[in-house]
Amino acid sequence: MSDKLAIRGGNAVRTHPFTAWPVFDDRESVGLQRVLESGNWGGYPCPNDYAREFGRRFAQAHTASYGVTVTNGTVSLELALKAAGVGFGDEVIVPAYTWEGTAAAVLFTGGVPVFVDVDPDTYCLDAGLIEAAMTSKTRAIIPVHLGFRFADMDAIMELAERHGLFVLEDCAHAHGGRWRDKGAGSIGHAGSFSFQTSKLMTAGEGGIVITSDIDLADQVIRLSNCGRPPRRETKGESVLGHNYRMTEFQAVILLAQLERLEEQTALRETRTRRLEEGLRSIQGISLLPRDPRITRQASYHYVFKFHSEHFGGVHRDAFVAALKAEGVPCDGRFYEAVYQSSLFQFAAERYPAWAQNRREFNCPVSQRAGYEESVWLPHEIFLGSEKDVDDVVEAVAKISANISELAGFEDERIRIQGMSRAQRALLESKPPY
Ligand SMILES: Cc1ncc(COP(=O)(O)O)c(C=O)c1O
Repeated sequence: MSDKLAIRGGNAVRTHPFTAWPVFDDRESVGLQRVLESGNWGGYPCPNDYAREFGRRFAQAHTASYGVTVTNGTVSLELALKAAGVGFGDEVIVPAYTWEGTAAAVLFTGGVPVFVDVDPDTYCLDAGLIEAAMTSKTRAIIPVHLGFRFADMDAIMELAERHGLFVLEDCAHAHGGRWRDKGAGSIGHAGSFSFQTSKLMTAGEGGIVITSDIDLADQVIRLSNCGRPPRRETKGESVLGHNYRMTEFQAVILLAQLERLEEQTALRETRTRRLEEGLRSIQGISLLPRDPRITRQASYHYVFKFHSEHFGGVHRDAFVAALKAEGVPCDGRFYEAVYQSSLFQFAAERYPAWAQNRREFNCPVSQRAGYEESVWLPHEIFLGSEKDVDDVVEAVAKISANISELAGFEDERIRIQGMSRAQRALLESKPPY
């Protein structure tokens, strides 16, 4: 194998694909056929049969009592917040480094997202910075369990109890994960998951709220089902509700996906441990430390840090473009500091509470992670053989050893890597009409 980097015309370390995602088998096909033939396709009556069964099983798998399925993982955040009473002018603490939807969900309730920086050891909400960001209007906190780590739920719950705040875990990356043996989403008052295509379980789209508070669960159903109360004895106020119901096609697929979750989670954890053993000795990159309180790791993406200063100033985006050229799927600017991202630019007056309460945010750890430091490896890399992981290590080591080939090198692939995800998506997309 030549040492010349693939991006400079050398041979790629990896020429065949990794495990394809999503994974499916006869369980999905048979289930879909069964729903098709039943004629009972939609989300009404709510919850419908497969949606009810999936909600029950998914909640149980995450040590919670109730699961309410909805259309996606942004709606699940919004409805959980609304069900908890978050509304106009209420402030909600969110990490600055996350998907834009975490913060958008707060705006959709009429509330105001307040961005707090992330912990450099986890890239998750830094619990030590939350109190300084609180005001008399703070009502809730949304810790996001990002990539393959958990936010410090011990510290966050202690703080939330002291201040009477609602805690909604954004678990869009954390299916199957456990914190001190409690399922992701069951440590706070509610948890929200996404089943969008890239996620650890998927029906193409979908979302769920899990909780052990029956009144909260009832209110989420109500908000997702045109305001209809789910039970005769339902408490809670009457509300206007959208139709945010999950279809039976989605629910039947998710029942099959759930059957594989435990095995896939264990395999990914084993593979990421092997990856760590290989990466640890490579100079100029560093690993996020393990936290023993994470008793089961959900590995949506494995994230490590690239230190440009060790590589003579070569930028992270050049490293990522080179790693891609070696045949390893990866990303750098996967997320940005949300308040700076192109998707978070909007007419402020559309969200009056936000417009009245404009603040400047400066979250250096999030900015560094987004624009300079983080490298994201997707979970399907960890569903294959040990050799798959070894190829990733070999590719990273090859680039590190030959980084000088990237000094001053300019290339369209590097330029694209420096664009926001929205811009890159536009480049790759087909015309909409
Ligand atoms: C952290 C996080 N929160 C929320 C969401 C929103 O989920 P969905 O795309 O299903 O609306 C996502 C999905 O990308 C996510 O990654």
